[in-house]
Formats: sequence, C-alpha cells, structure tokens
Amino acid sequence: MIKKTKLQVEAIKNGTVIDHIPATLGIKVLKLFQIDKTHHSVTIGLNLPSSALGKKDIIKIENVLITKDQANLLALYTQNATINQIKDYEVSKKFQLTLPEKVNAVFSCPNSNCITHNEPVETSFNVICKNDILFLRCKYCEKVFSREIMAECN
Ligand code: CTP
Ligand code: ZN
Repeated sequence: MIKKTKLQVEAIKNGTVIDHIPATLGIKVLKLFQIDKTHHSVTIGLNLPSSALGKKDIIKIENVLITKDQANLLALYTQNATINQIKDYEVSKKFQLTLPEKVNAVFSCPNSNCITHNEPVETSFNVICKNDILFLRCKYCEKVFSREIMAECN
C-alpha cells in the first residue's frame, strides 16, 4: 500500500532516531553526542513542521544504538525529545528522557583553575535542579555552573 504522507526524512533500517528536538537545538545535540565525529551515516532534518512543537529538528544515525544513559544527557536541554531505536525498519524501543544525576566525561569544567585541566581525570558534574533551573556542580573544584554557561563553554 502506498502511504499518502511521505516521511520528511527517509526511514532508516537500523539505528537511532532522535525525534521531537525543539528547533535550533539539533546542532547542539549533534555536538553533545559527538555525532559530528562519527563515520556512520547520519541524516538530519532542521526546522521541520511538527504538530506538537511547531517546528522540530530530527536526527537519524544509522547502525548506532544510543543507550538510555546516553539519551538522558539530552534531558539537560529538553525533556521533550524522544529516542527511538530502530531494528529492521521497525521502532524496537522508544525512550522518554529523565534528568541524569551525574554527567561524566562530557563537559570540560568552565573554571580554568580546575584541576581537571591539568590532571588526566574524567570530568564529573552533579546535576542540580532548583526551581526548574538546571545547574552542574563540578566534583573537583565544587563550583556550580548554570546549564547555559556550561553549554557556552563547551
Ligand atoms: N523512523 C525512521 N525509520 C524507521 C522507523 C521510524 O526514521 N524505520 C522514525 C519516524 O520517522 C519517526 C520516529 O522514527 O520520526 C518514530 O517513529 P514512530 O514511533 O513510528 O512515529 P510516531 O508514532 O510519530 O512517534 P511519536 O509517537 O514518538 O511521535
Ligand atoms: Zn571544576
């Protein structure tokens, strides 16, 4: 049967679809998951019409399965995105996002005096949510940074 509605970005056989990313965040998500450095096929849709969001970004990565822990990093930016694992053209798993308690080895510390810049240690931040505003506290220098500052410095 021929579907009347055509997919805006072609379906993938195996891999991960990150869907319902608020428009403009797509590029940030690419960097967050280091998708810009992968050798796998990636298709990206930016500013696609979405009934729920008005406009959305979508990212499809072939032959890579993003785990729930990895996906939860995205919750630092938006709780609304959906992660779909695709197996043989079917959605085999769909994750909603939950805020992680810790973020390890993703961000570098915005404090230039922090020991993490001079020692071969993985960075580690505790995620703090106060009045719906997100902060990250460095395990090493114990300084607290807003999510926005963290994003600007990384
Ligand atoms: N998708 C894909 N390749 C496939 C299957 C699905 O790229 N082989 C994409 C769809 O285009 C969609 C996402 O994966 O963007 C999730 O698919 P599906 O659950 O079928 O769509 P919806 O029901 O619209 O999802 P939701 O309820 O999360 O909006
Ligand atoms: Zn630090």
